[in-house]
Amino acid sequence: MALKITVIGTGYLGATHAAAMAELGFEVLGLDIVPEKIAMLTAGRVPMYEPGLEELLRRHTAGIEGASGRLRFTTSYEEAGEFGDVHFICVNTPQKHGEYACDMSYVNAAVESLAPHLRRPALVVGKSTVPVGSADRLAARLAELAPVGADAELAWNPEFLREGFAVQDTLRPDRIVVGVTSDRAEKLLREVYAKPLAEGSPFVVTDFPTAELVKVAANSFLATKISFINAMAEVCEAAGGDVVKLAEAIGHDERIGRKFLRAGIGFGGGCLPKDIRAFMARAGELGADQALTFLREVDSINMRRRGHMVELARDAVGGSFLGKRVAVLGATFKPDSDDVRDSPALNVAGQIQLQGAQVTVFDPKGMENARALFPTLAYAADPAEAARGAHAVLHLTEWREFRELDPAGLGDVVAERRILDGRNALDADRWREAGWTYRALGRPLA
Ligand code: UDX
Repeated sequence: MALKITVIGTGYLGATHAAAMAELGFEVLGLDIVPEKIAMLTAGRVPMYEPGLEELLRRHTAGIEGASGRLRFTTSYEEAGEFGDVHFICVNTPQKHGEYACDMSYVNAAVESLAPHLRRPALVVGKSTVPVGSADRLAARLAELAPVGADAELAWNPEFLREGFAVQDTLRPDRIVVGVTSDRAEKLLREVYAKPLAEGSPFVVTDFPTAELVKVAANSFLATKISFINAMAEVCEAAGGDVVKLAEAIGHDERIGRKFLRAGIGFGGGCLPKDIRAFMARAGELGADQALTFLREVDSINMRRRGHMVELARDAVGGSFLGKRVAVLGATFKPDSDDVRDSPALNVAGQIQLQGAQVTVFDPKGMENARALFPTLAYAADPAEAARGAHAVLHLTEWREFRELDPAGLGDVVAERRILDGRNALDADRWREAGWTYRALGRPLA
């Protein structure tokens, strides 16, 4: 008989995972403790913008016309415990207030709430990003609390999905990593992922600590790569070099690769910043803090870029923001997402406003979230409205729609044709040909 799967926590990761499991053919029950979220998902709506996710959800959610009916939602742990053979834990682990460490309370609560309802053999699979050592602790807690005892087993299966590509990354992962302590757990997970495995996704079997570390190691590497190129941008600025050319040239070396070498205002979002900080905090607890002191530098290079963008813009408008109008294109931390958590774009917009400019923001999908976080910024309905009367236009999130803007048309509404590219993603020649002064981080003036 086909496995029955539950997904605990239906946020970004969980909603995607639940819909993907239904797409793979399993009966799925998604659980969340927030009734409003469950009501929304049951109606076939996703609480965030993620390409393709709503379609996938509507294809499987019971009660929606034409749906397979394999996907249902609940707020009851009892129902989840009775239903599932495999339970995925997909709750979030945010950064603790005022600390580097991550907050494990949602993961702990999920295990504590589910375990007492496990009355038949079950595999609980953690997907959340957690400090190394958590799985060992949670496995013991599970065996202690579950009526079925040691037949309630734990596995750790980190998630690598990128916002904007969540559906694709879940259905066709570039690797599946499972931390297990028994053959039975490995076999069950091979069954869950049979389809992507048949399509060629590599399957890496590890112990608990390695599986937990893989996730933070991957994110640390990515963060380091971005900060590396941003450090090169700083040197280029000092030496009169061009970081875009430099990235292209080193990227031809296959050992380096071209991806994740886009210099700009740096990384943000709900993962990279908090993951590298939590990793440093955990290494400190383990007495291995020296191994990760470089991540402190990675973090500070990254944060410095935001301030540097502000300085570049201030310089461009003549040394002071007082009485100046600034248009900001982009509010989300990256394109194809409505996520504004720790967004470099909004951070820059906020700093510029605090220095006295009138800042107007436009973003294709992030307006609502941006407004909730920074209600004092002005928001416009389109790029032209944001740019009206502007002394400088700042390109801070690399949406395709901004690359396709017509520089001549936009030039008609601004006070000064001055564009600052915080993502090194615009075609500088096109803007210059239309009479704009184009400036970017890590590149010479003209
Ligand atoms: C990241 C990891 O990529 C993913 O594997 C993990 O599961 C979760 O964290 P995500 O947060 O969705 O995913 O964003 P990502 O695409 O990694 O981008 C992170 C940030 O880096 C964005 O703000 C982006 O604009 C920035 N970035 C990316 C750069 O500044 N330069 C680059 O070259 C690439």
